[in-house]
Amino acid sequence: MEETPAIKLSGITKWYGSVQAVCSVNLDIRQGEFFSLLGPSGCGKTTTLRVIAGLESPTAGRVYLEGEDVTDVPPYRRNVNTVFQDYALFPHMTVEENIYFPLRMRKISRVEARPMIQEALALVNMSGFEKRYPHQLSGGQRQRIALARALVNRPKALLLDEPLGALDFKLRVAMQKVLKDIQRNVRITFVYVTHDQTEAITMSDRICVMKDGLIHQVGTSEEIYNSPSSIFVAGFIGDMNFMEGVVTERHGDEVVVDVNGFIIRSGRPMGNFVVGEKVMVCVRPEKICAQDVCNLEDMQRFDNRFQAVITRIVFRGNDYEITVGLGEASMRLIESASDFKGENEGDSLYVGFLKEDVLLYPLQAEEEKTHEQLD
Ligand SMILES: Nc1ncnc2c1ncn2[C@@H]1O[C@H](COP(=O)(O)OP(=O)(O)OP(=O)(O)O)[C@@H](O)[C@H]1O
Ligand SMILES: [Mg+2]
Repeated sequence: MEETPAIKLSGITKWYGSVQAVCSVNLDIRQGEFFSLLGPSGCGKTTTLRVIAGLESPTAGRVYLEGEDVTDVPPYRRNVNTVFQDYALFPHMTVEENIYFPLRMRKISRVEARPMIQEALALVNMSGFEKRYPHQLSGGQRQRIALARALVNRPKALLLDEPLGALDFKLRVAMQKVLKDIQRNVRITFVYVTHDQTEAITMSDRICVMKDGLIHQVGTSEEIYNSPSSIFVAGFIGDMNFMEGVVTERHGDEVVVDVNGFIIRSGRPMGNFVVGEKVMVCVRPEKICAQDVCNLEDMQRFDNRFQAVITRIVFRGNDYEITVGLGEASMRLIESASDFKGENEGDSLYVGFLKEDVLLYPLQAEEEKTHEQLD
């Protein structure tokens, strides 16, 4: 039997006046999973989270927590806690009092609360900070206290809205590990909102990619990275080369595309294509291999091989991003600093890639298509 989802959204739609923030969202979030809502600004992530928390009531649809319909249950009776970007600690209270606050609301005595507070502090690695005030803490420490406060009454789920957004890059990366470790320890369901794809990919068990209030794809990081379901997901997660072309042949799973006179073979058509159809050809830069024009043997294994001219070289620290021209189209590839052969702009080189690494998408307006699928 299927496990009851920790959180289930069924046909959730949210209008703010004439703005549709969320559109017919269906989601099953599993018990104990680290689940991320990922998408560009304004796609409806915060709204979805607030509907789960009960801070916003949906225009249509139902919300279930552990199988129970909570759509009409107020937020404080839902047993889920939310952590926002701006910590929201009480400035006039010590760390200890801040963490005690939700327990006090539940009429738990100080004596009874003490070990719970100690445990929550240990969980976020902040034991010994009980007597400090928020202004005596760094940003990362404050966010850890906010987490301790959200976890101290052991909610069924923790909802986090860009909780690391206010931290600088290094601290954010460090806090990502802290958060992930905490989640592994407590095994509480985490719903994590971010617009940072790297953050989502490295932390999540599963990711929901949203755009314009619609879900584009739900899957593990690998599924979303390796088999994006739409052109939008292909471009939003990781780096991607895009080239428009026209289908010239189809043999089973192999589709041949003409990109401005260059013939590209794809073994991963994401749809049923007919000859003459316009398509988007997608190849990840790291899947493209480059070779000196005098050194061709290694290129034989590639279904797609071209001689191309380097138009741009960008040094990025660990690697070089090389742009090559294919007629009017261009594509980027990555050479690690140790593999870099000292090429120059204007040089010719051979590029090769496997047909399995070429994804094809229909070129019709993809938003319209997604809406149609929902109707
Ligand atoms: N209270 C509100 N009143 C009117 N419109 C709103 C309100 N809250 C959100 N919206 C609109 O709903 C849409 C979705 O907003 P939401 O805050 O859910 O996006 P988001 O994905 O969290 O974006 P961000 O990454 O910028 O935080 C946006 O177009 C936004 O302008
Ligand atoms: Mg938001």
